[in-house]
Amino acid sequence: MQQPVRISPSILSADFARLGEEVRAIDEAGADWIHIDVMDGHFVPNITIGPAVVKALRPHTAKPFDVHLMISPVDLYLEAFAEAGADIITVHPEAGPHLHRTVQAIKGLGRKAGVSLNPATPAKTLDYILEEVDLVLVMSVNPGFGGQSFIESQLRKVEAIRKRIDQLGKSIDLEVDGGVDRSNCRRIIDAGADALVAGTATFRGGPSAYADNIRALRG
Ligand code: DX5
Ligand code: ZN
Repeated sequence: MQQPVRISPSILSADFARLGEEVRAIDEAGADWIHIDVMDGHFVPNITIGPAVVKALRPHTAKPFDVHLMISPVDLYLEAFAEAGADIITVHPEAGPHLHRTVQAIKGLGRKAGVSLNPATPAKTLDYILEEVDLVLVMSVNPGFGGQSFIESQLRKVEAIRKRIDQLGKSIDLEVDGGVDRSNCRRIIDAGADALVAGTATFRGGPSAYADNIRALRG
């Protein structure tokens, strides 16, 4: 069942020189989760942050850390991110040879397991894994950078996955990531999403705008 929408600001758009302060500011501004984009310069053409930074941020908020791993191979690093304080660990099917095993490994570490689909990755990739996961992340941009434009075709994918989650009757979060802003969030929620990632749209305008930015994203 679709749950009330959770907003997960991506700290990729935060001021990296003041990351702890930025995390506290979005927490106070009403963020439900904190989205942390981990990139390796190999799976995606950008390099961001590792487990040491996640660990350093952990004392700055009690909100769940929604850690999006865009790294390959991914299995080697699951434990480090779990220990650093990740609550949700999301992986891409293309990031390792055995997705089912990776999902079990995340759950074995006591963390919620997410699977993320790139824009060209079909919903049917979830056929034999959906019932095992806690979260599906639909990428509405190609992973690697903030500030890209929302890819409209992903709304159909969100609708299709929403149907399948409801048929299954399990509580699986359906999150959308990339190009989400106040002008398209209503359509994304109407398509069936119940968690929205937003980097640019959260951090635009500086700290005094965060609360209004987050409120606007709830549709
Ligand atoms: C892209 C990341 C996104 C990104 C979203 O690879 O997964 O989380 O930071 O940024 P915006 O909201 O600016 O599109
Ligand atoms: Zn992300």
